[in-house]
Amino acid sequence: EKGGWSSFMRKEVQEQPDAVANTIRGRIVDGQVVIPELEGLGDDVLRGIRRITVIACGTAAYAGMVAKYAIEQWARIPVEVELSHEFRYRDPVLEADTLVVSISQSGETMDTLMAVKYAREQGARTISICNTQGATIPRESDAVVYTHAGPEVAVASTKAFVAQITALYLFGLRLARVRGTLGDAALAEQLAELQAVPEKLGEVLEESDRVAQLAHWMADTRSVLFLGRHVGYPIAMEGALKLKELAYIHAEGFAAGELKHGPIALIEPGQPVFVVVPSPRGSATLHPKVVSNIQEIRARGARVIAIAEAGDAAVLPFADEVIRIPLAGPLFEPLLAVVPLQVFAMELSTAKGLDVDQPRNLAKSVTVE
Ligand code: F6R
Repeated sequence: EKGGWSSFMRKEVQEQPDAVANTIRGRIVDGQVVIPELEGLGDDVLRGIRRITVIACGTAAYAGMVAKYAIEQWARIPVEVELSHEFRYRDPVLEADTLVVSISQSGETMDTLMAVKYAREQGARTISICNTQGATIPRESDAVVYTHAGPEVAVASTKAFVAQITALYLFGLRLARVRGTLGDAALAEQLAELQAVPEKLGEVLEESDRVAQLAHWMADTRSVLFLGRHVGYPIAMEGALKLKELAYIHAEGFAAGELKHGPIALIEPGQPVFVVVPSPRGSATLHPKVVSNIQEIRARGARVIAIAEAGDAAVLPFADEVIRIPLAGPLFEPLLAVVPLQVFAMELSTAKGLDVDQPRNLAKSVTVE
């Protein structure tokens, strides 16, 4: 039930600190990541993996893209992320030492289910990241790591997304330990970052009124662009997807570095552009590059809304609006930066008088190919 909230989405957005906390709960024991569901696979199997292929659709695929950066960094193993429906029909190279990780909130998405079945037939090992106990995809997989976001009712995925990243990060840290690629201090640091996320999500949610105001001012907007870099890139695409789904507004997410390779031609006076800005502390090389992207689009008249770390003063002279997120390690910023984008889409939908829980033409679980 909605429990006093005006929509399921509003409730589920607010539940994100719990979704992350509940997904972590019981999985950090004496400073180590423990995932009992994976015990069956055995450490030898995890050690022997040479490649990870993530398959998912929509928002779940963006969670996979975020996790790619973390898993490659921590476990030094190549990770590719592919849309399930593309993977299934292109004769992918799968070997016994390829691990296929599917991500699905519902566990029933037909495209992803077919891809998992195909991967198994080819002899790959499969694990599933899923939010629904006993769903079909986990049953068809060798092992499952459940996200504990609780039931997600609104069609647009929110709390499941942050829970998916959380579960994938736990998996990545576990993998890194088994493979010996992450030392004690580094593990402790990453775990502390992860455990701090729920409280920081609470702080980000406190900014929601400002984001709502922005959305109400922008109710007539016809197109919105989103830019991000590194882990901010999938967040830009997720922000665009939320806006398309909920507010029926044309939106696109780009990698900020790609701007000069084409998309900058779209910038005309008044064009709203959200920019997910990496932390100046955590990403000393990328931060100035994104700030200069902001300058470039601003010079062409873009209306810039920056999502930036608290205290980042470099964006101030060039951004029309700055939405602050708390300080976090670079890999943990996406968990925070996505929230204002979800809220923006939800509020814009509300401002337009649309049904945020049941957008037109969409179903919560897509059980046909
Ligand atoms: C976006 C959204 C969809 C789903 C996608 C996968 O808000 O809800 O893009 O993320 O259809 O669904 P699951 O995770 O159930 O496989």
